[in-house]
Amino acid sequence: MGKMRTQSAPWRAAAVLASVLLVGGVAACGNSDTGGGGTKDDGKITMGFSQVGAESGWRTANTTSIKEAAAAEGIELKFDDAQQKQENQIKAIRNYIQQKVDVIAFSPVVESGWDTVLKEAKDADIPVILTDRSVDSADKSLYKTFLGSDFVKEGRLAGEWLVEQKKGASGTVNIVELQGNTGAAPANDRKKGFGEAIAANPNLKIIASQPGDFTRAGGKQVMEQFLKANKQIDVLFAHNDDMGLGALEAITAAGKVPGKDITIITVDAVKDGMQALADGKFNFIAECSPLLGPQLMDLAKKVHAGQEVPPRIETEETTFTTEQAKEALPNRKY
Ligand code: AHR
Repeated sequence: MGKMRTQSAPWRAAAVLASVLLVGGVAACGNSDTGGGGTKDDGKITMGFSQVGAESGWRTANTTSIKEAAAAEGIELKFDDAQQKQENQIKAIRNYIQQKVDVIAFSPVVESGWDTVLKEAKDADIPVILTDRSVDSADKSLYKTFLGSDFVKEGRLAGEWLVEQKKGASGTVNIVELQGNTGAAPANDRKKGFGEAIAANPNLKIIASQPGDFTRAGGKQVMEQFLKANKQIDVLFAHNDDMGLGALEAITAAGKVPGKDITIITVDAVKDGMQALADGKFNFIAECSPLLGPQLMDLAKKVHAGQEVPPRIETEETTFTTEQAKEALPNRKY
């Protein structure tokens, strides 16, 4: 008997612990049933955010904006860096669903292949906000809203500027294009917008177009190939500043003067890109704003409260020439 009594003590403790955990678990489930996610007793909203990666200056500024805005709004942020891989984003989103966060937000690395995981979030009654980049899902009910830029417009603005610059140019203008990562919305859309803008001018000819993955290293490497393969390059259209900055190294190493021998057009307008523009190494930038954090947190609060939000919220943006970059640089935040 004595022996039995000493053995049963740890079991009793385990049983007490199990019942405490069970009560806690039930309480948590109860909250999620009513709150549509993981609302805790403190009323704090928890957001699970899956970021594309850290491939560019733009992305770094975007991550900072999101983290700062979450802190300012008292939103608990669970953040995951997917390192430019869709499978990592899907894994992160599934984790957030399991953790019963209140809102899921993400910037999809590519446009396609999200329906299954978005359906899982919908079935779990967790609202999803797309930010920066969209998906090509036909079922728009899989997400609440898409907050971000009009990438087609950015490409079009870049193309229209070039058409204006090359008005009356005699002979063919050879253009090379550094695309973002394959399948990404900004890569698809900027290519489309730029192509449409120059289409009526057959002398403006894209002679090479390849992905540089939105990175400096990618931009440098692909530009080196372009320069080796093509005797005459008149214009570079890079889908972001970072690839343009990488390309500058390749152009200089090839003995050419960036901004003069080769006209350089980019997208983003991060500080380093703006500096290159102010220095005359770039010639034109179509802005893409990464400062999406405050609007994203505002939307998170609204969808969590069950309020209707517009299905599409477009970021306000502009363009920069060298003179405008010089003026804007001192106050540039990112
Ligand atoms: O989706 C926005 C794009 O992604 C930015 O233009 C680019 O710099 C980033 O990597």
